[in-house]
Amino acid sequence: MDEPVIVVTRRWPESVEQELARRFPHVQLNADDVPLGRDGLRAALEQADVVLPTVSDRLPAELFEGEVRTRFLGNFGVGYNHIDVEAAAKAGIVVTNTPRVLTNTTADTAMTLMLMVARRAGEGEREVRAGRWTGWRPTHMMGADVTGKTLGILGMGRIGVAVARRGHFGFGMPVVFYDPVDFEPDHGIPGARRVSTKEEVLQTADFVSLHMPGSSGNTHLIDAAALAQMKPTAFLINSARGDVVDQKALIEALKSGTIAGAGLDVYENEPQITQELIELDNAVLLPHLGSATLETRTAMGMLVLDNLQDFLEGREPSCRVA
Ligand code: DGY
Repeated sequence: MDEPVIVVTRRWPESVEQELARRFPHVQLNADDVPLGRDGLRAALEQADVVLPTVSDRLPAELFEGEVRTRFLGNFGVGYNHIDVEAAAKAGIVVTNTPRVLTNTTADTAMTLMLMVARRAGEGEREVRAGRWTGWRPTHMMGADVTGKTLGILGMGRIGVAVARRGHFGFGMPVVFYDPVDFEPDHGIPGARRVSTKEEVLQTADFVSLHMPGSSGNTHLIDAAALAQMKPTAFLINSARGDVVDQKALIEALKSGTIAGAGLDVYENEPQITQELIELDNAVLLPHLGSATLETRTAMGMLVLDNLQDFLEGREPSCRVA
């Protein structure tokens, strides 16, 4: 493939777009940043050698049916449950993602959610901005401490470990974790306790932070029954994928006091968020900002380019997932 036709589905950080354009003469950038939608994505797969999508693009199996020109899909992001990678592979397409470079930034987002929801930071900010703050008083907006509380991690991969380390070394939190995959994570956290069921984490932890991939058996892993296992004083943190949590059940649990609160960066049916959730003061809601720093988004883009360069030069891309 001498001079591949490349479609980038969304805007990328400027320096990465410039690098892409410098290396390849036939790059179609998305200056308006309007999602391509189903038809636009299908057209890209028919007309481009390389498509560089991201989490806001849905690429189900049907999109890979029939004649497809694309040979390389370089996902901008570590999670790729929005792509049917089996169908892509069947269509002869190599798929890559961007692990590692976003680990710390995403872990920082999980900590942000934890602190915000426990200390009622969103609620407090709304009060100040609305001019409703009447001054200091001993019982005003009392939250819960984070320091010293038990941190439960579901999914002890790179990001789970990074969150656990922050909790343990930064806030003195004992760590309890569950991961269904049979490996010993290299976490270096004294006393971190691996348990054999997710229920043990749910029952023990004051903060339950989710770090597993979306879909693939994890859809609604946190349902009404799981939420009922948690302490009424506990908080749920989701910076993984929206479909991991049954949003209806979560809203019910937040309303009824089954759990104390939730910090969410991801949702079922993004970017739609139900009004019921928006109205809940014990939920902190961020717009999928997990990896959103200039440094990290630039590193993610450069990693997509490295993967692409490897593919075009006949090497195995280091972040190949299919
Ligand atoms: C990721 O990398 O998976 C982020 O959630 C953005 O897609």
